Amino acid sequence: MSSSQRRLLVTSALPYANGQIHIGHLVEYVQTDIWVRFQRMRGHEVHYVGADDTHGTPIMLRAEKEGLTPKELIANVWKEHKRDFDNFLISFDNYYTTDSPENEKLAQSIYLKLRDAGLIEKRAIEQAYDPVKEMFLPDRFIKGECPKCGAKDQYGDNCEKCGATYSPTDLKNPFSVVSGATPIKKISDHYFFKLSDPRCEEFLRDWTQVKTPLQPEARNKMKEWVGQPGDRKLGDWDISRDAPYFGFEIPDAPGKYFYVWLDAPIGYYASFLNYCQAKGLNFDEWVKPDTATEQYHFIGKDILYFHTLFWPATLNFAGYRTPTNVFAHGFLTVDGEKMSKSRGTLISANSVIDCGFNPEWFRYYFATKLNDSMEDLDLNLQDFVARVNSDLLGKYINIASRSAGFLVKRFGGIVSDEAMNNPLLKEIATASDKIAELYEGREYAKALRTVMELADKVNGFVDENKPWEIAKDPEREADLQHVCSITLEAFRMLSLYLKPVIPHVAAGVEEFLSLSPMSWSDINIPLSSKNPIKPYKHLMTRVEAPQIEALLAANL
Ligand code: 2FM
Ligand code: ZN
Repeated sequence: MSSSQRRLLVTSALPYANGQIHIGHLVEYVQTDIWVRFQRMRGHEVHYVGADDTHGTPIMLRAEKEGLTPKELIANVWKEHKRDFDNFLISFDNYYTTDSPENEKLAQSIYLKLRDAGLIEKRAIEQAYDPVKEMFLPDRFIKGECPKCGAKDQYGDNCEKCGATYSPTDLKNPFSVVSGATPIKKISDHYFFKLSDPRCEEFLRDWTQVKTPLQPEARNKMKEWVGQPGDRKLGDWDISRDAPYFGFEIPDAPGKYFYVWLDAPIGYYASFLNYCQAKGLNFDEWVKPDTATEQYHFIGKDILYFHTLFWPATLNFAGYRTPTNVFAHGFLTVDGEKMSKSRGTLISANSVIDCGFNPEWFRYYFATKLNDSMEDLDLNLQDFVARVNSDLLGKYINIASRSAGFLVKRFGGIVSDEAMNNPLLKEIATASDKIAELYEGREYAKALRTVMELADKVNGFVDENKPWEIAKDPEREADLQHVCSITLEAFRMLSLYLKPVIPHVAAGVEEFLSLSPMSWSDINIPLSSKNPIKPYKHLMTRVEAPQIEALLAANL
């Protein structure tokens, strides 16, 4: 490999192990996977790891409701998640669980290092407690009447009826969602990570404002959160929970567990460690502070706080490297609205497959909407059908079907080598650097627009040259081979550019054109008469509008 080869560790956020993967999640996995596949095509060393986020109260209670142990529940959900990721061609190198021995050891050793650094403090706090179930209640397990409008059965943070926001202690007639009992106040010891310590503040100010090229929106948010020197804006972070809790016990603190958000990001490292051990890689080399390797986390904008404050501080003060960058994306809306169960727009990954959708349609569509910002993106269902059919089928796939038949039937699949010098092909090859830059910068929408503009030019070339007419003239055999060879080589190059987005189609193209797996530099290695192409087989079908109705109905 060349000296410019980079070494990248990449993650997507870890989904909770108590629910299905839906299309909102998929935006992020598709975004990450495109980037990872692109980096692999560039010849870099890339390791993409993920895991289920398995700990915490909701998972513990859901297991109980289903008559399972938490470990049984998370094992079942892991299989479903893995199936969904495989179906959507998410190319994790390791998909693991945060409930692993590696994670327990790492979380405990990181905690002890923070404690040794004087950054852990024990403090007694008062919290809501369910006296019947004998457990402390996270806010979302308390309901009651809205203090403003009196609506019944409202959560502790806002009223769905009148929109008022408040805190759980404001609720009238509060009750525990778990047992129905009236919560009482109870005091217990909690462990805090002292983010308010001047060392943490100083580190985070530098990390977020100077050292890390965060997205501008993220950097501004962080500026607000971190404040100016002396502001002491950062509060300490409560990292413990009392039994009963499904998680890891805190060393030297019986009955106290790490809050799920402490061990979840450490789960990135645990998954990577598990993978390193299996592959004989040197884990320490990747995670030590002066490493030359890069570390990227793809996340949703809602968990920025955890990834740009808690996680880098945890790593830094436990003696690890910090992330090279954190890339946050916006939320997915469907037809301009928040995804909703009652409209059938909270679409599960599995229903997409069950309803006969090609997952690459979604990969492509999401990519046409993605950029490097934290803006929300919309899945417009009509536009989805139009885009897939007009871009992928009409503009791109169509190119191959228009030219391959003649080459196979008339020329034994042999292309003309001399056709490879055509200016149209040069133009397509010249776009390689620009498209690479766009993928690198997560500007997928722009990258795909560029590719589709090139596809338009190729179709224009076919329309001008009319191979179907040349084919009628026995004197113009050479012309026919020439035109079809140019067209097919153009198709090869477009396929290379689209490969990070539609890898399955690209693999079909490689098979049909008798190519070994294409890397980015293969843009300059044209088809050759030495490798005859094979007969064209369908690479992708159209999406039919009625399929959308069926998909929504399946999610009601
Ligand atoms: O918000 C969530 O869905 C969390 N399960 C994400 C965790 S990401 C990481 F920090 F583990
Ligand atoms: Zn209200």
